[in-house]
Amino acid sequence: MNAPQPLSLRAEGPLSGTVTVPGDKSISHRALMFGALAVGETVVDGLLEGEDVLSTAAALRAMGAEIVREDAGAGGEAGRWRIWGVGVGGLLQPATALDMGNSGTSTRLLMGLIASHPITATFTGDASLSSRPMARVTVPLGLMGASFTTAPGGRLPLTMTGRCPAVPLRYVLPVASAQVKSAVLLAGLNAPGRTTVVEPEATRDHSERMLRAFGAEVRVEDAPEGRAITVTGEAELRPQVIVVPGDISSAAFPIVAALIVPGSRVTIGGVGVNPTRDGLLRVLAMMGADVTLGQQREVGGEPVADITIAAGALTGIEVPPEIAASMIDEFPVLFVAAAFAQGTTVMRGLSELRVKESDRIAVMAAGLTACGVRVEELPDGLIVHGNGGDMVAGGATVAARLDHRIAMSFAVLGLRARAAVTVDDARPVATSFPGFVDLMTVLGAVQSPV
Ligand code: S3P
Repeated sequence: MNAPQPLSLRAEGPLSGTVTVPGDKSISHRALMFGALAVGETVVDGLLEGEDVLSTAAALRAMGAEIVREDAGAGGEAGRWRIWGVGVGGLLQPATALDMGNSGTSTRLLMGLIASHPITATFTGDASLSSRPMARVTVPLGLMGASFTTAPGGRLPLTMTGRCPAVPLRYVLPVASAQVKSAVLLAGLNAPGRTTVVEPEATRDHSERMLRAFGAEVRVEDAPEGRAITVTGEAELRPQVIVVPGDISSAAFPIVAALIVPGSRVTIGGVGVNPTRDGLLRVLAMMGADVTLGQQREVGGEPVADITIAAGALTGIEVPPEIAASMIDEFPVLFVAAAFAQGTTVMRGLSELRVKESDRIAVMAAGLTACGVRVEELPDGLIVHGNGGDMVAGGATVAARLDHRIAMSFAVLGLRARAAVTVDDARPVATSFPGFVDLMTVLGAVQSPV
């Protein structure tokens, strides 16, 4: 990365139009990883070509998979990716450290894969990733036989050696985390016998869905502690043709933008609406938002819909904490929506937000306060006192802290601010949503010079 790129958006009128957002980040990582473990050619359309996913691709190449992008057609449509995998158990020792950039998903899921291979790998990352906890994966993967040397606090840089054969495990997740669940299941793919993860709260189930599609044996049952997912090891994965739906976590930004800019009406086509990911839509509906799902269909084993949003009044609510896992990445932009609601929105049960790309409770609370929004920070959440739909004061430069979703949330807030809201550095947006500013401009937002 070179110089910081400040960003400031404003709206000079309603937002309108029909757009699509880039492919789902979670599904894109998994498509590359499972393709890299299948024998034969996997084809992926709609892959998110963001920095996080490209970090996964580079690491898998370093471990022996062949991954190529076909050039986009003349129409500029997204490229098609082809992966020739090495087979489960066939990953090779990487020659150099694996640079994971900003990507927690790449790091934790790849640690799972390596845990049951007889190889040693070093993971490095940027300042944000190097401050994130890794003990949540090193603990269960250690129980399976992998060994780790980490920086103080169980953080990156980290070197691990996998164990083959690994010890199959039954593991009850201590935190609601799809990354930890997936890391253990992926390690279990190359372990003898069955590996089970029990999740007290349902988290995104893309790994389970896609592993089944690739031919792995995946069983899901109710256990006393929650939902038990079992993978049968020494699996053989069959190559697939995968179409990646649009990322609801990216769609969240134009969705909230359309809600808060008076007179707006926006449709976002082809968005994944998996019930383990659609919490934002449910919460906005509870707040009175006009959100409709059209053309509901299934694409590549995932439910997909066209989402239409019209601007309108929102009412503050107490967000049920059990919805949190299905919208964990959408809270920063929900905080923004809540700033324009009538009344108070109370959001609790969100301690996981403190260990994302930034401490999203503290960073959002600071930026919202600087922009004139009244908030109260809780250890595990945020209370936002809405202004009933008026403009917020704005007039601040907010720190994005290497966090793409913080940067996009404040860019959206600026659309309904009296004075400009400037994000100090929008470069991290490229990790998950290349084309964010262009898409907002197509809808009618205007980029202010900064
Ligand atoms: C992800 C899981 C979530 C989410 C992240 C992507 C995944 O993280 O925040 O952006 O693809 O499995 P946690 O597992 O830490 O909740």
